Amino acid sequence: MKALPNHFYTGREEFLEERERVFAPMWTCIGFASDAPNAGDVQPLEFMKMPLLMVRGNDQTLRVFHNVCRHRGHVLVSERGTVKQSLRCPYHSWTYTLEGKLARTPNVGGVGVNDIADFDRAGFGLFEVSSVEWNDLVFVNLSGDAPAFEEFIAPLEQRWEPFWGAEGSSLLRLAQSHSSIRLEVPANWKLAVENYLEAYHLPTVHPALNRFSPLADHEIHLGEDFAGQLSHCYTLGAGTARHLPVFPAWPEALYEEAQYPALFPNTLLGLQADHLFVMVIIPLTHNRTLEETRLYCVGDESGAEDFEDLRQAQHRFWTEVFAEDIGVVTGMQAGRASPGFDGGVLTPVMDKATAHFHQWVAKRVGVALG
Ligand code: FES
Ligand SMILES: [Fe+2]
Repeated sequence: MKALPNHFYTGREEFLEERERVFAPMWTCIGFASDAPNAGDVQPLEFMKMPLLMVRGNDQTLRVFHNVCRHRGHVLVSERGTVKQSLRCPYHSWTYTLEGKLARTPNVGGVGVNDIADFDRAGFGLFEVSSVEWNDLVFVNLSGDAPAFEEFIAPLEQRWEPFWGAEGSSLLRLAQSHSSIRLEVPANWKLAVENYLEAYHLPTVHPALNRFSPLADHEIHLGEDFAGQLSHCYTLGAGTARHLPVFPAWPEALYEEAQYPALFPNTLLGLQADHLFVMVIIPLTHNRTLEETRLYCVGDESGAEDFEDLRQAQHRFWTEVFAEDIGVVTGMQAGRASPGFDGGVLTPVMDKATAHFHQWVAKRVGVALG
């Protein structure tokens, strides 16, 4: 099958078109709820050149707003932090509640006059974006008309239930000081997703990983809005005598099963019996992408001091694996400047999941792939 042509990786216009046609209609992960755990916590985010803001309200609900003041359009919050009761614009001090209502407009009618006739503050609250917390992940629907989030996530939940059980997700705990990996790659966001969708490159790019998780033990799985790998050879504790706590419901006979789906368009997940990682692909520009990863262990017990070395080893392992991918993703972006390449070929066995993703994107941007 033919692949998406170069200009979908090198064009600024295509980048913005994808924001409208690929991301906006979907449920898209933009960040992590644990970055704003308490009332008054604010976390500004840039998503595809668009300023967004996560705010935890007094009712403990996490909301996502367009991070822009309704007066003259100054960005409202530029740094992560905690505010007391309100969000104050740095330009003329219009102030919004944590729930996004415009509360105060100081001096708007002249010095000391904070109200004016014919200006109803109720009509000038922050624009809220539909959002959902799923485990620690914050998903948004920018267009506001996607089907219910539950519908979107149900196939993944059904797939994972036999492994992590009914209580699985409630047991996730950030892996304390070893929970975060941040990498930037000078490439289009799709290449980061595509690289995740295949195990074909394991022997060449990840020789260490391939020794105990060889290519032959991987299988491709396709769903409607996701695709990825199954591995049949995950090794708890990387073959050492100890390992982190496992999901209590995970059948012992399936400890070697691991699931590596990409939830389209931008959420890459890795579920193993003793941990979950989530890599959120944040497109910055058409040729720059942030890979923001969190690692989660299982249950309170996993946070014990005794497991510090294992949490650290797990973090080191994934940091090395993800870093190994940066070079090849960068190399694919560089290749897309060549007139000697325009998408290449997606082979029927090894590139099956990538082909599925290309069809998924192509359908949304209105391109026919032969
Ligand atoms: S731009 Fe925000 S108060 Fe004027
Ligand atoms: Fe890889």
